[in-house]
Amino acid sequence: MKINNYSIKKSIKYLKNNECIGIPTETVYGLAGNAYSDEAIDKIYRLKKRPKRNPLIVHYFDINSLKKDCIINRYFLKLFNKFCPGPLTFILKLKKNSLISKKITNNKNSLAVRFPKHPVTRTLIKKINFPLAAPSANISQGISPVTKQDVIDEFGKKLKYVLEGGRSKIGIESTIINLIGKPKIIRLGGIEVKELEKVLKLNLIYKKKIDLNFPGQNKLHYSPGIPIELNRKSPKKNSAYILINKKKNIRSKNFFYLSKNCNLKEAAQNLYKLLRKIKKKKYKLIEIEKIPDKGFGLAINDRLKRASYK
Ligand code: TXA
Ligand code: MG
Repeated sequence: MKINNYSIKKSIKYLKNNECIGIPTETVYGLAGNAYSDEAIDKIYRLKKRPKRNPLIVHYFDINSLKKDCIINRYFLKLFNKFCPGPLTFILKLKKNSLISKKITNNKNSLAVRFPKHPVTRTLIKKINFPLAAPSANISQGISPVTKQDVIDEFGKKLKYVLEGGRSKIGIESTIINLIGKPKIIRLGGIEVKELEKVLKLNLIYKKKIDLNFPGQNKLHYSPGIPIELNRKSPKKNSAYILINKKKNIRSKNFFYLSKNCNLKEAAQNLYKLLRKIKKKKYKLIEIEKIPDKGFGLAINDRLKRASYK
């Protein structure tokens, strides 16, 4: 992707003034601000209407810049060397003398960190001397945005600027692994757990049940604001029906395909985009065909389960 120097400069100017802006990443768009500035972090929480107890992910360019703020370990290095930059977020111990705003962590001593791969955002982060806090650029509990227009639809004029980066390639958020103590998966996402297990040579724990004691694990999440019903063999009359396999001999304007041949990676890429499209068409109910609980299907089902919570 061609980098537009003018828009990078403009973004830097906003960030240096403690403003927040939308930024593209390979997973979803983020709402970014200077992670060392209380003022910028306040703005992120306010815009997102995010509860203060739910901490933010901080985005770095490389290990050198991370080392000022966090303590790294051998698991981190193994995973970093294989998957970064990329769709993997690590929970690490925060250093006592780190400059990270206390508002990001809610005064806790852990930090979620990520190294985004998107070339536009990498160019931006390389040019500034502070890391970027950036939760997904959606109002709390809603669907993450995967294009610049999605971000504009979320915040309108309240957000001063969104950096263009095309459509997010992965389409769902990063996988989160907690590396404090025994490695544990906190969120399924852009990298399959079995890939992480291969590198760590460990079986990783992932609790499917939502742990409400963990920040950000609210029951209703990733919601398009329309009721969702899962595992539907066929749709009711006027609902939007989401499918993962081509239905032969049936065509309907109410049918929406995540994939036509059960390609789960493609389905993850299309998930949020499709939910937004259906919402714009003003459907009152979404019904979804059963999605296989394997590979990226695990992450998709995790999102859909929370989105359908009543
Ligand atoms: O792909 C992504 O990770 C995107 C892009 C923009 O980087 N970001 C993203 O951020 O999904 P957010 O804030 O929407 O989700 C981050 C999750 C939240 O559920 C939060 O509770 C959790 O990470 N989290 C952040 N810091 C944490 C910490 N110190 N310990 C445990 N969980 C943490
Ligand atoms: Mg989010």
